[in-house]
Amino acid sequence: MTEHIHAPGLFDAEARIEKVECLGMTFESDEARRAYFLEQLWEKLKDPEFREIEGFPIGTDADILAISDPPYYTACPNPFLKAFIQHYGTPYDPETDNYHREPYAADVSEGKTDGIFTAHSYHTKVPHKAAARYILHYTNPGDMVLDGFSGSGMTGVAAQMCAKPDPDFKYSVETERQAADLPTVQWGARRVVLNDLSPAATFISANYNLPFDVNAFEREATRILQELKQEIGWMYETNHTDGKTKGQINYTVWSEVFACPECSTEIVFLKEALDLETKRVRDSFPCPNCSVELNKDRLERLMETLIDPATNKPWQRIRLQPVLINYSVGKAKYEKEVDKADLQILQEIEQLPLPAAIPTNAFPIQEMYHGSRLAPKGFTHIHHLFLSRAAQALGKLWSQAERVEDIRLRNVLLFFAEQSFWTMSLLNRYRPTGYSQVNQYMTGVYYIASQHSECSPWYILVGKLKRLVGAFQEFRAILNQAYISTNTAANLRLPNQSIDYIFTDPPFGENIYYADLNFLIESWHRVKTDAGPEAIVDKAKQKNLFDYQHLMRECFEEYYRVLKPGRWMTVVFHNSQSAVWNAIQEAMLAAKFVVAGVRTLDKQQGSYRQVTSTAVKQDLVITAYKPSQSLENNFNLEKGTEEGAWNFIRTHLQQLPVFIADRGQSEMIAERLDYLLFDRMVAFHIQRGATIPLSATAFYAGLNQRFPSRDGMHFLPDQIAEYDRKRLTVKELLQLDLFVNDESSAILWLKQKLTTKPQTFAELQPQFLREKTWVKYDREPDLRDQLLAENFLCFKGDGKIPRQIVSWLKQSSHYREKIRQIEGDTPSNNGLETNDSELLNAAKDHWYVPNPNQAEDLEKLRERALLKVFEEYRQANQKQLKVIRLEAVRTGFKRAWQDRDYTTIINVARKIPENILQEDPKLLMWYDQALTRAGEE
Ligand SMILES: C[S@@+](CC[C@H](N)C(=O)[O-])C[C@H]1O[C@@H](n2cnc3c(N)ncnc32)[C@H](O)[C@@H]1O
Repeated sequence: MTEHIHAPGLFDAEARIEKVECLGMTFESDEARRAYFLEQLWEKLKDPEFREIEGFPIGTDADILAISDPPYYTACPNPFLKAFIQHYGTPYDPETDNYHREPYAADVSEGKTDGIFTAHSYHTKVPHKAAARYILHYTNPGDMVLDGFSGSGMTGVAAQMCAKPDPDFKYSVETERQAADLPTVQWGARRVVLNDLSPAATFISANYNLPFDVNAFEREATRILQELKQEIGWMYETNHTDGKTKGQINYTVWSEVFACPECSTEIVFLKEALDLETKRVRDSFPCPNCSVELNKDRLERLMETLIDPATNKPWQRIRLQPVLINYSVGKAKYEKEVDKADLQILQEIEQLPLPAAIPTNAFPIQEMYHGSRLAPKGFTHIHHLFLSRAAQALGKLWSQAERVEDIRLRNVLLFFAEQSFWTMSLLNRYRPTGYSQVNQYMTGVYYIASQHSECSPWYILVGKLKRLVGAFQEFRAILNQAYISTNTAANLRLPNQSIDYIFTDPPFGENIYYADLNFLIESWHRVKTDAGPEAIVDKAKQKNLFDYQHLMRECFEEYYRVLKPGRWMTVVFHNSQSAVWNAIQEAMLAAKFVVAGVRTLDKQQGSYRQVTSTAVKQDLVITAYKPSQSLENNFNLEKGTEEGAWNFIRTHLQQLPVFIADRGQSEMIAERLDYLLFDRMVAFHIQRGATIPLSATAFYAGLNQRFPSRDGMHFLPDQIAEYDRKRLTVKELLQLDLFVNDESSAILWLKQKLTTKPQTFAELQPQFLREKTWVKYDREPDLRDQLLAENFLCFKGDGKIPRQIVSWLKQSSHYREKIRQIEGDTPSNNGLETNDSELLNAAKDHWYVPNPNQAEDLEKLRERALLKVFEEYRQANQKQLKVIRLEAVRTGFKRAWQDRDYTTIINVARKIPENILQEDPKLLMWYDQALTRAGEE
């Protein structure tokens, strides 16, 4: 079957008659293909069941059809996805499947200035070249990639650019991989399913990922901009200072007008605050009338009553006044104050009727987090955000683009035009020191500043057009590679086990209110997001962190369903709150994914480092896999048995990288450390409703017996040779940073210290005090009586000197000789029997790490002590416990879990303040799973 890289355009006569293959059918032309599938979509839209899908965008059939280009893109759930997979996917066959990849653990850092990346902005974007590195690593050409939260579709661009990478990118990927000793990648396009809840997002995505005739686009866009000039160019003319030449306005600066709180004089903010010489806006300035010192907080807001151009009724809005004009005469740029003639033109424009294309619908202010920033200033409807002149320009621009008959070309023209909406709205701030006034709105919020740059459409779009054409000449999307759907990721409508890899960048907590922000552009398309299933924390929409976690869990469960077993998912996370981080991890684990590594972008060093604590401060990349079917099947049979646990560890170790090196240093692979392996084993059991068959000590002992270790990390026997060989190639092993911020991390820290060297309390205490940053609600255990006494042993000066202390003493030549004389050439494993007072004194009061048998006894004692504390919490009558020993709660939850006593977990969890529960990943896990299990029973 041959596919045509085909981009029909208005003037592309040849392309029009070329036959097109699509989903196994041959069409006489691309128009015929489109007509056929539009008809099918139209039929589908009449089906009430289809329209009832949760998250179905809000819009009429006609408006949805107008921007859709089926089967590739639909501004609603895409009913052709299954057919796409059937035709181009490879079915999963457990018998023949031999896929294996180690997680991608190399450095990834990519800039955000690439031409195609900036071709259309979105509230957050992942650089496609970063995504492409992951896609190249995890997939082969033709594989099916998925991004369920695809935003502007950068994952699609990444998947497609693997076919024809630019030479610099290709070179850097190949050299990086060679340096890191990673297998060579196979170049070639991957297919991709892009999905997002928001039609504004999928519309951008579709225009990035579906081919179009770039020359035809350039010609049409140029024509539209020229015709716009002929029609409304007069609105953007101003008199040059020579009194005869007409200047072309680039932008007009508007200022909010306030009142002085002392003398009520009107204050044109920018006139008083802007220092024309330095171009800085002063924080404070004197009132021109009464000289009292003023600043932004002291000024009183003034409202003016206008006639709303949509309703012709009075409308109150903050007072705004034009003050400065930046204009060009030929190539020279000038600045002037607004004069009478300018005001007259503005008055004339105000008399004109509002163009029909301008949306006049209301913002859902009550349900918007930023509603309180808009409504009090008078901005309650979309058209309020545009000054009269901007409304005339945009209205005309939009309807010109909408009039283009060819759907593909029309869509790309709308994609081009919508780039100017935010800049042409009152959200665009005046930045006197900015190189350009374009895109000067505050990202991620609806914020109307006191100074506004009202830019001309040509100032925004002429340069943009050139850049867009350049970028799309280089990046050419390929037909039939990307299918785009507008839907919730919780219901992707894809077949089971059909996806080879997931790269995804979900919304993170409450940073960015996508549905609210996309409302502005979606109002122009008249197809809007159904914010119901939006995964977000948003007070205004009554969604808290638990709701977010729940929504994300549904989406991850859907990811789990559609991903082939043994395949990978990469999740990008930008948020600095550990509670949100914990929620997303729990959602992922509850969906049965297994995390194989977390790395963070170190912006200063430009490299990714592993993350081992919940203290998240940077952007993270989480790598997780869907366990193989045989592991899940065997686990079901062996659930809760030791063999089940070791089987899991065996397959988990198989999935982890064996060796990671960077600039001559090798990295400690956190996931291979005993305590993280223990945590993963516990999580694996809990998420599958199983009891945990091994205590920590038994687990560590079993791990040591079964899996050889190097540098504190555990390996499968057949991985050891590779590690040893590669370890010889580097000088240094980079240690992990350990944060001491709770009881379990403190124990790990002490273990690390005492393994290297037995120490006295006096030696340990100052180091401990320096390291620890305890969270205040967690009751801090006493270092000597609890942390040390419950987990380690101290040599009191009588009996045998423990082996570990003897080994340490032997580091001194003096003691070495003495010890040699006592024990000869056959040292006993049980320690050193001696009366030598010098040796006994040297060893006395040193804390050391217990051997496995001693550790088991200690663990039992410790567990008993912690359970006693937990029992107090369980019986406490207080509604909320204030300061809690979290380790006691973790231990209590574990015991209750083993006893299937979910009620105890739920009841005690409810006594713990919500934020504490959300800050602790382990408590959150027990609680979340107890809720699930209790609901099931
Ligand atoms: C961080 S952005 C993705 C940005 C994207 N990586 C890019 O480069 O443009 C997250 C996206 O998730 C979408 N979203 C939120 N809840 C969703 C849900 N339940 N299903 C699908 N998409 C959702 C938002 O509309 C937003 O576009």
